[in-house]
Amino acid sequence: MKRNSIALAVAGAVFALGAGSALAAPDWSKVPKKDLHVFHAGVTPIEWLQGKGEHSGAAGLKKGETCAGCHIEDGKLSLDLKRLASKELEPKGAPKTMTFPVTVQAAYDANNLYVRLTFKAPAGGADHSDKDNELKATVMFPNDKVPLGDQAGCWAACHKDARTMPGASESKTKYATPGAMDLMQWKSGGGGKAVDGTVTDKRAMDGGKAGVTAEGAKSGDIWTVTFTRKLAGGVNLVAGKAVPFGVAVHADNAGGRFHHVSFGQTIGLGVDGDVKAAKQ
Ligand code: HEC
Repeated sequence: MKRNSIALAVAGAVFALGAGSALAAPDWSKVPKKDLHVFHAGVTPIEWLQGKGEHSGAAGLKKGETCAGCHIEDGKLSLDLKRLASKELEPKGAPKTMTFPVTVQAAYDANNLYVRLTFKAPAGGADHSDKDNELKATVMFPNDKVPLGDQAGCWAACHKDARTMPGASESKTKYATPGAMDLMQWKSGGGGKAVDGTVTDKRAMDGGKAGVTAEGAKSGDIWTVTFTRKLAGGVNLVAGKAVPFGVAVHADNAGGRFHHVSFGQTIGLGVDGDVKAAKQ
């Protein structure tokens, strides 16, 4: 008898916890959707983008223009994808599908930011070096000390000497010195795993302070990945502000630079942004 009542009490507590977190999670059917077009970027590290004579946008970048400002028109990419798939910018081989849409939704409350990504991940990749994970979905947030962080998004951490770049050392990862980025990732291997990481003078796939949790699932050929992170913690996200972010998807067991990436965009926490986060 006594045992039973303890078991009931424990079950009740677990139920209450479950109900609590279900209440905190946004009702995604009510949250507006925005499509970001991710693409295979070839070998276009920040040094290439800033190099005059290689990239016509270099002067604009110096003046403070954003990548998205020049390369997104009416929500569509304005980019020469054939050039990105050519030997000039992709010596190893490009994926069959150079770009695909990722539907982004965001919401926030007093403590957390919630981000949901929904997309079809294309097969036909050129690199399958991550044998453990069919899929990885990543979101990064630069702080205001990352050079070009708010203009270039993830490219601010993408350097020509980072691993999987032609001729680079395998041990050198992406970096964002003297700033920092939060990196949250969900990877599909082993039933799914969340990563709470950072990019500073190197990339760390743990030790982040954003309390990241993530869930992912595939239904038919559609992946849905949902992240929860603290507003304060790591890169401080503040309600009433638009925060820069970027998205990357490693599809078809891709590793290293063989991801599809978005341009730097913003999430508006209660204010305008490329993606508008709904207040819970
Ligand atoms: C002032 C406008 C401008 C800005 C800002 C700009 N670009 Fe460009 N970008 C261009 C133009 C024009 C081209 C095509 C011709 C060339 O590269 O010389 C180009 C080419 C590219 C290419 C090669 C594919 C192609 O279409 O030729 C990539 C990749 C690229 N830009 C990415 C970026 C990224 C990432 C950023 C931000 C870090 C950025 N650009 C900022 C104007 C811009």
